[in-house]
Amino acid sequence: MRQPLIAGNWKMNKTATEGQALARAIREGLQTQTVEVVLCPPFTAIPAVHAVLQGSPIHLGAQNVHWEDAGAFTGEISPVMLKEWCRYVIIGHSERRQYFHEDDEMIHRKVLAALRHGLIPILCVGETLAQREAGETGTVVATQTRRALEGLSPEQAAGLVIAYEPVWAIGTGRAATGADAEEVIRRWVRGTLEELFGLEVAQRVRVLYGGSVTPENIAEFVCRPTIDGALVGGASLKAETFLGIIHETARVKA
Ligand code: PGA
Repeated sequence: MRQPLIAGNWKMNKTATEGQALARAIREGLQTQTVEVVLCPPFTAIPAVHAVLQGSPIHLGAQNVHWEDAGAFTGEISPVMLKEWCRYVIIGHSERRQYFHEDDEMIHRKVLAALRHGLIPILCVGETLAQREAGETGTVVATQTRRALEGLSPEQAAGLVIAYEPVWAIGTGRAATGADAEEVIRRWVRGTLEELFGLEVAQRVRVLYGGSVTPENIAEFVCRPTIDGALVGGASLKAETFLGIIHETARVKA
């Protein structure tokens, strides 16, 4: 079935040197092979972290990607550049949508570009607090999922990872409840996947929860069969807490 996955999104944290130290501590402390582990450092730390992870089962991911292969796009990084180092790439994180004005069309192009070069997208979807309070959670999550993935083949879709991250839960210390996350993922993430690609694909895609995940609350999410793991921000910046989340996931999913 689906292998559990815990991904750490370091955001704009860690120099190359700091990143190496963190990756080394995670590698040395990792005591499970049942959970897939992915580290997503900032671009400048990717080669250094790559060197530390050589020969380990831990995979690398980037936090963003451009949709073109090369060209006059100052400041951008292409999928061709990333695929030398990374297996995964986070696409459509709410901070990209909010602060850098990424819209569903750009995110769609990024997903296609990543797939074209064999990178696995970790597509992020989720509603804001205002949208939740207006009762729009389902529409927002379904629309973001649909717009990002329209036109993919079922084979392409089946290999994806999707992270449901309610925006109000990110970095706030206020996680969703497991029951809430499960409901949104079942109805609006997997439900939309089923509409677009059929039941088999909807059951094969790995779906994560993200937003204020800690070693203390991770069990609340991964105890639910529809939730395959987590995308972790703040708690991925310390080896102890990140390993705590990984090992708790291994225990619960065993
Ligand atoms: P957080 O971030 O764990 O710090 O809430 C999650 C994310 O943005 O992926």
